[in-house]
Amino acid sequence: DWTPASYVEQSVAELKEKIGDDSVVLGLSGGVDSSVAAMLLHRAIGDRLKCIFIDNGLLRKDEFEEVLVSYEGLGLNVKGVRANDEFLDELTDVSDPETKRKIIGRVFIEVFDKEAKQLDNIKWLGQGTIYPDVIESVSVHGPSVTIKSHHNVGGLPAKLNLQIVEPLRMLFKDEVRRVGAELGLPNYILSRHPFPGPGLAIRVLGAITREKVRLCQEADHIYINILKESGWYDKVWQAGAILLPVQSVGVMGDERTYEFTIALRSVNSVDGMTAEWSKLPHEILAQISSEIINKVKGINRVVYDISTKPPATIEWE
Ligand code: XMP
Repeated sequence: DWTPASYVEQSVAELKEKIGDDSVVLGLSGGVDSSVAAMLLHRAIGDRLKCIFIDNGLLRKDEFEEVLVSYEGLGLNVKGVRANDEFLDELTDVSDPETKRKIIGRVFIEVFDKEAKQLDNIKWLGQGTIYPDVIESVSVHGPSVTIKSHHNVGGLPAKLNLQIVEPLRMLFKDEVRRVGAELGLPNYILSRHPFPGPGLAIRVLGAITREKVRLCQEADHIYINILKESGWYDKVWQAGAILLPVQSVGVMGDERTYEFTIALRSVNSVDGMTAEWSKLPHEILAQISSEIINKVKGINRVVYDISTKPPATIEWE
């Protein structure tokens, strides 16, 4: 019978055998998959697993600092790399979604490559690929698959001349979470919503500016915190705030305003392939809306996305 404990035991033995005395480099994204893959490899080879966690400037508010501290607390050998400017300089004023993805994939490889070259004796690239990624990369997703996530960047292994090790390749998401719990990962990491590799670049619709990324982060932070406080965070599959490239008229005191709109997206899903919009209570939506509009200067309107996938997608870009 499959149990998380037996999986860990067997997998650790196989990894030790396979990797021998070599070292492995792995890109952490803050997500469940790369975190569990890292813990498993760490159990097998200890500090010969070298992790790199890159801040691309498109993560959720405060996320880089918080997650980096958790990784360090778990005993992982991790280097946090702040590369906000490398990414944002290239993304500023770019509006086409696939161009955004291509730039992020390319810059990620450049930054990762530079860091990995400073490490000794690396023969392997660890990746948090899980079974649905294996299937999906041969089917539906279209061009975005090439950079489906941080830990699955197509050109990377060839560029670094490394062999690949993917300890979660046969697991479904719920099994990955159970293995992670077995390895002592905190719930804070295991219960996180999926988050796209290109991050807020595809949630700031249209042309990217640093200021728009900041607005999106502030609104998203309020949204996610209220979901957590109200107990809704764990009841939905994925949620996030999207900054629309639309300004509209509002009124504040005696003044007219002309500011941006935030769309709230929250979906229930089993695998992300189909999804329905979450039936969040009106009082919660009201609280989120007034807090965003009152606290985030530059946003004067909040709307809720009530579209199912298909035909709509979870992300707007
Ligand atoms: P869609 O928008 O296609 O999203 O319904 C399905 C799931 O995939 C995530 N997503 C991405 N993840 N790189 C990623 O790593 C991407 O380019 C990308 N596009 C969408 C999305 O957040 C959802 O979980």
